[in-house]
Amino acid sequence: MEIISNPTQDDIKKAAKALKDGHLVAFPTETVYGLGADATNEKAVSRIYSVKGRPTDHPLIVHISSTNQLDKWAIDIPQFAFKLANEFWPGPMTLILKRSNLAKDFITGSQNNVGVRVPVHPTALALLAKFDEAGGYGVAAPSANRFGAVSPTTSAAVDEELGDYLEREDLILDGGQSQVGIESTIIDCTNSVPKVLRPGAITLDMIETVTTLKSISSGNEIKIKASGLLDSHYSPKAIVVLNSLPIPGDGFIALEHISTPNGVTRLASPKNIEQYAKKLYLALRSGDQHGIKRIVVIPPEGDGLAEAIRDRLSKSESGNLNELPTLE
Ligand code: TXA
Ligand code: MG
Repeated sequence: MEIISNPTQDDIKKAAKALKDGHLVAFPTETVYGLGADATNEKAVSRIYSVKGRPTDHPLIVHISSTNQLDKWAIDIPQFAFKLANEFWPGPMTLILKRSNLAKDFITGSQNNVGVRVPVHPTALALLAKFDEAGGYGVAAPSANRFGAVSPTTSAAVDEELGDYLEREDLILDGGQSQVGIESTIIDCTNSVPKVLRPGAITLDMIETVTTLKSISSGNEIKIKASGLLDSHYSPKAIVVLNSLPIPGDGFIALEHISTPNGVTRLASPKNIEQYAKKLYLALRSGDQHGIKRIVVIPPEGDGLAEAIRDRLSKSESGNLNELPTLE
């Protein structure tokens, strides 16, 4: 596997060709880094699952270069979904739509719906455009981490997660630190109103303003095969504890104005909610690098992006349950 920093046009072309040839290419997006494969190539897509160690019935998001490509992957697209696409694509939003024949069971986890996204990171967009030129239709890409672990927001974090599992002709494209820092908002558009399955930077307010529909925030109730919706997820090796008083030896993540008790290692002091989202995953990783066993996190208050951060943190806290023996 090769890591390409500051990819040139030629590098992007090479990466598009690697995808077309059935190899994997990890690439930067504004949310988190993705592990890409040709979404029409079953063998390539099956490698995503083995490299991540992810159960094969979990659906993947198809990344496309523009809204113009949407009808290749989806049918019966409702008007409100087009409104969302026109407003927020390219950007940190995934739409769940009724699938076309192109979206096979190996992409959708055998569901009749498909997740589609147009990312805004220039390297991602350039790669997707070159992939189109090479005759491709879309790039399946989950977050480029091992199953259950923290999503990577830098190329170094991708290497740390997947370096041992990638093959010689696979690539990692570097594109700096992801600007948003947490995964895209997932909106189910298969009913009469939008339903948020995973909160993110595109907030409920933004969705309602654009669609003029009252949308539903599903929280965790919905029983859908989406790994981001499982309880234990987004978990570093350290145990994550929320809203607790850190003791000496602990790592600590909180907004800047909250001070650090003696003997505690401060892992991040974001100044605002946007910075909190951007820094969170690197901070959780840095705890592991420091060999810290327990990380105390004070989640931000408020709605919108703060709610999305709390969603991820509550899952990484319950990820601690992974440490306990199971009955199965
Ligand atoms: O920001 C993101 O969305 C990143 C970047 C790389 O684009 N991707 C990402 O993919 O987070 P992943 O696979 O780690 O998380 C996507 C979530 C998973 O929980 C998956 O099961 C769910 O979306 N999903 C994908 N397709 C779906 C579908 N058809 N119906 C319901 N959930 C779906
Ligand atoms: Mg993921």
